[in-house]
Amino acid sequence: MPYATITEALNSGQTLVFGHRGALAQAPMNTLAAFDCALQQGADGIELDVQLSKDGHLVVIHDTTVDATTDGRGHVAELTLAELKQLDAGAWFSADYKGERIPTLDDVFDAFGDKLLINVEIKSSPAWGYRADKVLAECVRRHGMSERLIVSSFDPALMGGLRQMMPTAMLGFLYQPDMPASHYLPLKRLWHQARHPRQDMVDQGYMNWARAQRYFVNVWTVNDGARALELSRLGVNAIITDEPAAIIGALEKC
Ligand code: G3P
Ligand code: MG
Repeated sequence: MPYATITEALNSGQTLVFGHRGALAQAPMNTLAAFDCALQQGADGIELDVQLSKDGHLVVIHDTTVDATTDGRGHVAELTLAELKQLDAGAWFSADYKGERIPTLDDVFDAFGDKLLINVEIKSSPAWGYRADKVLAECVRRHGMSERLIVSSFDPALMGGLRQMMPTAMLGFLYQPDMPASHYLPLKRLWHQARHPRQDMVDQGYMNWARAQRYFVNVWTVNDGARALELSRLGVNAIITDEPAAIIGALEKC
Protein backbone atom coordinates (compact mmCIF):
# COMPACT_ATOMS: atom_id res chain seq x y z
CA MET A 1 0.00 0.00 0.00
CA PRO A 2 1.90 3.05 -1.24
CA TYR A 3 -0.32 5.63 0.48
CA ALA A 4 -0.37 6.32 4.21
CA THR A 5 -3.58 8.32 4.14
CA ILE A 6 -6.59 8.79 1.88
CA THR A 7 -5.74 12.48 1.51
CA GLU A 8 -2.25 11.62 0.30
CA ALA A 9 -3.71 9.10 -2.16
CA LEU A 10 -6.27 11.53 -3.58
CA ASN A 11 -3.57 14.21 -3.87
CA SER A 12 -1.13 11.86 -5.63
CA GLY A 13 -1.97 13.01 -9.14
CA GLN A 14 -2.76 9.40 -10.07
CA THR A 15 -6.28 8.29 -10.95
CA LEU A 16 -7.04 5.82 -8.18
CA VAL A 17 -9.07 2.71 -8.95
CA PHE A 18 -11.60 1.43 -6.41
CA GLY A 19 -13.34 -1.92 -6.87
CA HIS A 20 -17.13 -1.50 -6.66
CA ARG A 21 -18.48 -3.84 -3.96
CA GLY A 22 -15.05 -5.47 -4.32
CA ALA A 23 -14.89 -6.66 -7.90
CA LEU A 24 -18.56 -7.02 -8.76
CA ALA A 25 -17.99 -8.55 -12.18
CA GLN A 26 -15.67 -11.31 -11.01
CA ALA A 27 -16.69 -12.33 -7.48
CA PRO A 28 -19.76 -12.27 -5.21
CA MET A 29 -20.26 -8.63 -4.27
CA ASN A 30 -19.34 -7.32 -0.83
CA THR A 31 -17.56 -10.49 0.33
CA LEU A 32 -13.97 -10.95 1.50
CA ALA A 33 -13.39 -12.95 -1.71
CA ALA A 34 -14.50 -9.96 -3.78
CA PHE A 35 -12.23 -7.60 -1.84
CA ASP A 36 -9.30 -9.98 -2.25
CA CYS A 37 -10.08 -10.19 -5.97
CA ALA A 38 -9.87 -6.37 -6.20
CA LEU A 39 -6.57 -6.44 -4.32
CA GLN A 40 -5.14 -9.13 -6.62
CA GLN A 41 -6.20 -7.09 -9.65
CA GLY A 42 -4.17 -4.14 -8.38
CA ALA A 43 -6.96 -1.88 -7.14
CA ASP A 44 -5.95 0.97 -4.85
CA GLY A 45 -9.11 0.57 -2.84
CA ILE A 46 -12.57 -0.88 -2.52
CA GLU A 47 -16.07 0.53 -2.24
CA LEU A 48 -18.48 -1.42 -0.02
CA ASP A 49 -21.97 -0.98 1.41
CA VAL A 50 -22.83 -1.32 5.10
CA GLN A 51 -26.08 -1.78 6.99
CA LEU A 52 -27.03 -2.55 10.57
CA SER A 53 -28.04 -6.02 11.66
CA LYS A 54 -30.90 -6.38 14.14
CA ASP A 55 -28.42 -6.51 17.02
CA GLY A 56 -26.46 -3.44 15.95
CA HIS A 57 -23.50 -4.80 13.96
CA LEU A 58 -22.41 -3.23 10.70
CA VAL A 59 -22.55 -5.89 8.01
CA VAL A 60 -21.35 -5.52 4.45
CA ILE A 61 -24.26 -6.00 2.06
CA HIS A 62 -25.90 -3.86 -0.60
CA ASP A 63 -29.63 -4.66 -0.58
CA THR A 64 -31.95 -4.17 2.38
CA THR A 65 -32.79 -7.87 2.12
CA VAL A 66 -30.52 -10.90 1.90
CA ASP A 67 -32.67 -12.47 -0.84
CA ALA A 68 -30.58 -11.69 -3.93
CA THR A 69 -27.07 -12.34 -2.62
CA THR A 70 -27.44 -15.20 -0.13
CA ASP A 71 -29.28 -18.49 0.26
CA GLY A 72 -31.56 -16.91 2.90
CA ARG A 73 -34.56 -14.61 2.93
CA GLY A 74 -35.50 -11.56 4.96
CA HIS A 75 -34.51 -8.04 5.84
CA VAL A 76 -30.97 -7.42 7.05
CA ALA A 77 -32.33 -5.20 9.84
CA GLU A 78 -34.50 -8.06 11.11
CA LEU A 79 -31.71 -10.65 11.30
CA THR A 80 -29.06 -10.91 14.02
CA LEU A 81 -25.38 -11.14 13.17
CA ALA A 82 -25.41 -14.83 14.15
CA GLU A 83 -28.29 -15.44 11.74
CA LEU A 84 -26.63 -13.45 8.95
CA LYS A 85 -23.35 -15.33 9.44
CA GLN A 86 -25.09 -18.66 8.78
CA LEU A 87 -26.02 -17.60 5.25
CA ASP A 88 -24.05 -18.53 2.18
CA ALA A 89 -23.14 -15.31 0.34
CA GLY A 90 -21.12 -16.87 -2.48
CA ALA A 91 -22.93 -19.80 -4.08
CA TRP A 92 -25.53 -17.54 -5.80
CA PHE A 93 -22.64 -16.14 -7.84
CA SER A 94 -20.75 -19.36 -8.57
CA ALA A 95 -20.16 -22.75 -6.96
CA ASP A 96 -16.49 -21.72 -6.65
CA TYR A 97 -17.53 -19.27 -3.94
CA LYS A 98 -19.77 -21.57 -1.92
CA GLY A 99 -19.22 -20.96 1.78
CA GLU A 100 -18.48 -17.23 1.53
CA ARG A 101 -20.09 -15.34 4.39
CA ILE A 102 -21.49 -11.84 4.77
CA PRO A 103 -18.57 -9.99 6.37
CA THR A 104 -18.82 -7.44 9.14
CA LEU A 105 -17.04 -4.16 8.65
CA ASP A 106 -14.67 -5.32 11.42
CA ASP A 107 -13.81 -8.38 9.29
CA VAL A 108 -12.97 -6.13 6.32
CA PHE A 109 -10.86 -3.71 8.34
CA ASP A 110 -8.99 -6.67 9.90
CA ALA A 111 -8.31 -8.33 6.55
CA PHE A 112 -7.71 -5.35 4.26
CA GLY A 113 -7.34 -2.22 6.40
CA ASP A 114 -3.57 -2.09 5.83
CA LYS A 115 -3.72 -3.17 2.16
CA LEU A 116 -6.49 -1.16 0.54
CA LEU A 117 -8.09 2.25 0.84
CA ILE A 118 -11.72 1.82 1.78
CA ASN A 119 -14.83 3.74 0.71
CA VAL A 120 -17.59 2.83 3.15
CA GLU A 121 -21.01 3.62 1.73
CA ILE A 122 -23.39 3.73 4.66
CA LYS A 123 -26.93 2.76 3.74
CA SER A 124 -28.68 1.90 6.97
CA SER A 125 -31.25 4.05 8.71
CA PRO A 126 -31.60 4.02 12.51
CA ALA A 127 -33.24 0.76 13.61
CA TRP A 128 -33.87 -1.12 16.83
CA GLY A 129 -32.31 1.69 18.84
CA TYR A 130 -28.95 1.53 17.05
CA ARG A 131 -27.54 4.31 14.91
CA ALA A 132 -25.41 3.28 11.96
CA ASP A 133 -23.40 6.52 12.03
CA LYS A 134 -22.49 6.00 15.69
CA VAL A 135 -21.63 2.33 15.21
CA LEU A 136 -19.49 3.22 12.20
CA ALA A 137 -17.61 5.99 14.03
CA GLU A 138 -16.82 3.57 16.88
CA CYS A 139 -15.70 0.85 14.45
CA VAL A 140 -13.42 3.25 12.57
CA ARG A 141 -11.89 4.48 15.83
CA ARG A 142 -11.36 0.92 17.10
CA HIS A 143 -9.40 0.00 13.96
CA GLY A 144 -7.50 3.28 13.64
CA MET A 145 -8.90 3.70 10.12
CA SER A 146 -9.99 7.34 10.23
CA GLU A 147 -7.19 8.54 7.92
CA ARG A 148 -7.56 5.70 5.46
CA LEU A 149 -11.18 5.77 4.45
CA ILE A 150 -13.87 7.79 2.73
CA VAL A 151 -17.38 7.59 4.08
CA SER A 152 -20.15 8.27 1.58
CA SER A 153 -23.93 8.10 1.67
CA PHE A 154 -27.10 9.24 -0.06
CA ASP A 155 -28.57 9.79 3.41
CA PRO A 156 -28.10 13.34 4.79
CA ALA A 157 -28.97 12.37 8.38
CA LEU A 158 -26.22 9.73 8.48
CA MET A 159 -23.70 12.07 6.89
CA GLY A 160 -24.57 14.83 9.35
CA GLY A 161 -24.15 12.46 12.28
CA LEU A 162 -20.81 11.26 10.97
CA ARG A 163 -19.53 14.79 10.50
CA GLN A 164 -20.27 15.49 14.16
CA MET A 165 -18.71 12.25 15.41
CA MET A 166 -15.73 12.25 13.02
CA PRO A 167 -15.00 15.96 12.46
CA THR A 168 -11.99 15.48 10.18
CA ALA A 169 -12.94 12.26 8.35
CA MET A 170 -13.08 12.27 4.56
CA LEU A 171 -16.75 12.53 3.62
CA GLY A 172 -17.95 11.98 0.06
CA PHE A 173 -21.20 13.58 -1.10
CA LEU A 174 -22.79 10.77 -3.09
CA TYR A 175 -25.31 11.83 -5.66
CA GLN A 176 -27.07 11.15 -8.91
CA PRO A 177 -29.16 13.37 -11.20
CA ASP A 178 -32.62 12.45 -9.90
CA MET A 179 -31.85 13.04 -6.22
CA PRO A 180 -34.69 14.80 -4.36
CA ALA A 181 -33.98 18.28 -2.95
CA SER A 182 -34.80 16.96 0.55
CA HIS A 183 -31.64 14.81 0.28
CA TYR A 184 -29.52 17.05 -1.89
CA LEU A 185 -29.84 20.34 0.00
CA PRO A 186 -28.81 19.12 3.50
CA LEU A 187 -25.88 17.21 2.00
CA LYS A 188 -24.80 20.30 0.09
CA ARG A 189 -24.72 22.35 3.29
CA LEU A 190 -22.57 19.81 5.12
CA TRP A 191 -18.80 20.27 5.02
CA HIS A 192 -17.35 17.51 2.84
CA GLN A 193 -14.07 17.08 1.02
CA ALA A 194 -15.14 14.86 -1.86
CA ARG A 195 -17.90 14.68 -4.43
CA HIS A 196 -19.04 11.24 -5.60
CA PRO A 197 -21.14 11.90 -8.70
CA ARG A 198 -22.53 9.27 -11.02
CA GLN A 199 -19.99 9.12 -13.81
CA ASP A 200 -22.24 10.53 -16.57
CA MET A 201 -22.57 13.83 -14.66
CA VAL A 202 -18.89 14.63 -15.12
CA ASP A 203 -17.49 16.77 -17.92
CA GLN A 204 -14.96 19.59 -18.24
CA GLY A 205 -17.40 22.16 -16.84
CA TYR A 206 -18.11 19.97 -13.84
CA MET A 207 -14.41 19.48 -13.15
CA ASN A 208 -13.71 23.21 -13.44
CA TRP A 209 -16.42 23.88 -10.88
CA ALA A 210 -15.27 21.07 -8.55
CA ARG A 211 -11.65 22.25 -8.67
CA ALA A 212 -12.69 25.81 -7.89
CA GLN A 213 -14.56 24.43 -4.84
CA ARG A 214 -11.48 22.31 -3.93
CA TYR A 215 -13.42 19.04 -4.00
CA PHE A 216 -11.88 15.68 -4.76
CA VAL A 217 -13.99 13.99 -7.44
CA ASN A 218 -14.55 10.23 -7.22
CA VAL A 219 -16.91 8.82 -9.85
CA TRP A 220 -19.05 5.69 -10.05
CA THR A 221 -19.50 3.25 -11.75
CA VAL A 222 -17.19 3.12 -14.77
CA ASN A 223 -16.68 -0.17 -16.61
CA ASP A 224 -15.75 1.18 -20.02
CA GLY A 225 -12.02 1.69 -20.60
CA ALA A 226 -12.42 4.61 -23.03
CA ARG A 227 -14.68 6.48 -20.60
CA ALA A 228 -12.24 5.76 -17.76
CA LEU A 229 -9.43 7.28 -19.80
CA GLU A 230 -11.55 10.32 -20.61
CA LEU A 231 -12.42 10.83 -16.93
CA SER A 232 -8.78 10.38 -15.95
CA ARG A 233 -7.76 13.05 -18.48
CA LEU A 234 -10.43 15.34 -17.04
CA GLY A 235 -8.64 14.92 -13.72
CA VAL A 236 -10.99 12.85 -11.57
CA ASN A 237 -9.26 11.57 -8.44
CA ALA A 238 -10.77 8.10 -8.32
CA ILE A 239 -12.82 5.75 -10.44
CA ILE A 240 -15.10 3.18 -8.86
CA THR A 241 -15.49 0.16 -11.13
CA ASP A 242 -16.88 -3.38 -11.20
CA GLU A 243 -13.75 -4.47 -13.11
CA PRO A 244 -10.57 -3.07 -11.56
CA ALA A 245 -8.10 -4.95 -13.78
CA ALA A 246 -9.74 -3.80 -17.02
CA ILE A 247 -9.85 -0.17 -15.92
CA ILE A 248 -6.27 -0.23 -14.60
CA GLY A 249 -5.25 -1.70 -17.97
CA ALA A 250 -7.08 1.03 -19.87
CA LEU A 251 -5.46 3.79 -17.79
CA GLU A 252 -1.99 2.31 -18.11
CA LYS A 253 -2.20 2.30 -21.89
CA CYS A 254 -2.42 6.10 -22.00
O1 G3P B 1 -20.76 4.39 -3.99
C1 G3P B 1 -21.12 4.37 -5.32
C2 G3P B 1 -22.22 3.37 -5.62
O2 G3P B 1 -21.93 2.18 -4.97
C3 G3P B 1 -23.59 3.85 -5.25
O3 G3P B 1 -24.61 3.02 -5.66
O4 G3P B 1 -26.28 1.24 -5.41
O5 G3P B 1 -24.00 0.66 -6.20
O6 G3P B 1 -24.39 1.31 -3.83
P1 G3P B 1 -24.82 1.49 -5.25
MG1 MG C 1 -22.38 1.35 -3.01
